[in-house]
Amino acid sequence: MAIFAGFGSDNHSGVHPDILNALRNVNGGYVVAYGLDEYTTQAIGQLKEIFGKESSVFFVYNGTAANMLGLRNVTDSFHSIFCAESAHLTVHECCGPENYIGAKLVNIPTPDGKLTVDLIEPFLIGVDDPHMAQPHVISITQATERGTVYRPKEIQDLADFAHKHHMLLHMDGARLSNAAAFLKTGLHEISGKAGVDVLSFGGTKNGMMYGEAVVFFDKNLAKNFEFIRKQGMQLTSKMRYISAQFSAFLNDDLWLRNASHANEMARLLAEQLQSIPGMEISQKVEANMVYAIIPNHCIIKLQKQYYFHRFNERTCEVRLMCSFTTQPQDVLSFSQAIRKTVGAQ
Ligand SMILES: Cc1ncc(COP(=O)(O)O)c(C=O)c1O
Repeated sequence: MAIFAGFGSDNHSGVHPDILNALRNVNGGYVVAYGLDEYTTQAIGQLKEIFGKESSVFFVYNGTAANMLGLRNVTDSFHSIFCAESAHLTVHECCGPENYIGAKLVNIPTPDGKLTVDLIEPFLIGVDDPHMAQPHVISITQATERGTVYRPKEIQDLADFAHKHHMLLHMDGARLSNAAAFLKTGLHEISGKAGVDVLSFGGTKNGMMYGEAVVFFDKNLAKNFEFIRKQGMQLTSKMRYISAQFSAFLNDDLWLRNASHANEMARLLAEQLQSIPGMEISQKVEANMVYAIIPNHCIIKLQKQYYFHRFNERTCEVRLMCSFTTQPQDVLSFSQAIRKTVGAQ
């Protein structure tokens, strides 16, 4: 069943027609399985053009697997991973990291989803103490779960801090495209070039049907990943279908066009909300999501008509997410519905 225009998630959108065409175009004939095919060679080549010849790139089905396997590949069971308390890794991966990676997650409070050296430093304890988990990875999300975007310098500072303390910097880039579109910069500039060691690069939320890439910026870190991916049940036999999607995603900057549009719709939505008395935008609108505080009775009414999430079940802060298919008319009619519900018209 299709749902009405909603602001629940960029995952609620369908697949971009160019991606569907790409799937159709590789559908004929026999193709060697498990990534030993020309489409995969081509897509990986395109990604290496972006992320650097020294990078190693692997495809998986979904974002959770990209995070889980990328991190598992670089950690031991006695390690800890620092992340924001709002990170998808710790909130929405169902204790996957604890269960599957086997490392300890250290959740760090942050007002806007971003980690900084100052926020992390107090948690850097117990180094070389055999009684304590050993800090090993800092994981950040770009764009963050709060819709904010790390600037290259902020990433570099975290990378320098991590490396100085013999740690690695991991980036959950499920919305890396939205961050790059916002900053008007390249994907590499806000990942590997800024010091990130391991990246989950997302496609699904930005127009693909499924498929994410795990990128290691240092080949040595990728050494065992083939085995970790297979054990992790993410070595797809019909790899050509992920690869073809990634090629189409990168061709003619489809990733950028889709992300720019989604960001633009979030800006329009924020503008509309700001003009409604009593409405409070609670986070900076930088990528494709808007956080707002709406009176409880309005949320209940609106959710009968529109799909969106409360950020926290106990508060009136909602997350409104735009995507490459969000239309200005969707934003305007939703804003109009809010206006009516709060009695501003
Ligand atoms: C920031 C972030 N990382 C990872 C994921 C996981 O993606 P998937 O649902 O494809 O496993 C999501 C999904 O919502 C996400 O928002």
